[in-house]
Amino acid sequence: MKKKFALALAAFMMMGTLAACGSTNTNQGSDAGNTSGSSAVDAIKEKGEIVMLTNAAFPPFEYLADDGSVQGVDADIAQAVADKLGVKLKIVDMDFDSIVNSLKAGKGDFAAAGMTVTEERLKQVDFSDEYVTSSQMVVVREDSDLEGDKAALDAALSGKNIAVQAGTTGDWYAGGDETTGSTIKDANVLQYKSATEAALHLASGKADAIIIDQKPAEAIVAANEGKLKVLDTKLTDEQYAFAVQKNQEDLLAIINEVVAEYKGDKVDELITKHMGA
Ligand code: ARG
Repeated sequence: MKKKFALALAAFMMMGTLAACGSTNTNQGSDAGNTSGSSAVDAIKEKGEIVMLTNAAFPPFEYLADDGSVQGVDADIAQAVADKLGVKLKIVDMDFDSIVNSLKAGKGDFAAAGMTVTEERLKQVDFSDEYVTSSQMVVVREDSDLEGDKAALDAALSGKNIAVQAGTTGDWYAGGDETTGSTIKDANVLQYKSATEAALHLASGKADAIIIDQKPAEAIVAANEGKLKVLDTKLTDEQYAFAVQKNQEDLLAIINEVVAEYKGDKVDELITKHMGA
């Protein structure tokens, strides 16, 4: 029994060493101080501040409140992380498709952006445990007769004008990226900085559909009273998680403690609260 455990431990430690070696090359951000044996958490405590990167155009997970502050499910959970560390939370709002690179460059301590865990992103950053399950959905104008299961929708959307937020899994799906399970062919993908812009172009007729995550799809429809609708068909199954730079196990562990506290009922409550806001 003991021997087995020791062996497992040795194997685990070796994995850790290998992982550490693998990431020294890629971790060239300004947080390179972590390589000196000091921890990411120590550095954050020293700064007295933890920096969250997001794109505040994704309600209910993140949106700009009237006072210009970033609010949402992710901001609330991030605040709990900051509280646990006893530091202030600073939120930096940027284009969604800049978040992963900015995180790698050390411009923030973590990303909380309704971000789906994907193989591609896992090559660049680490993810916390998952805290939300979501799907890509299709939003169309109220009078659209588009309907059907995933295969039928993919076929119907092929060759169409599809609006998306740039760099999202919805963008990849519209572009027919196989890793998303999409079978859409030759769509004209209109990439916007925000879902709000995508909605404008759908309402005006420039786009035939939007492909976007479930709750933001509902939020868009609610904001465009009577003009748009979400179809029932789920195109994908996705999981959201917070992202951190590779090789920051101590920070990841703290985030995972908070995620474990929130996952389930507490996240659902936050979603309801921010859908109403
Ligand atoms: N879940 C999708 C993705 O990870 C969309 C996320 C968009 N998030 C945002 N804050 N704009 O690609």
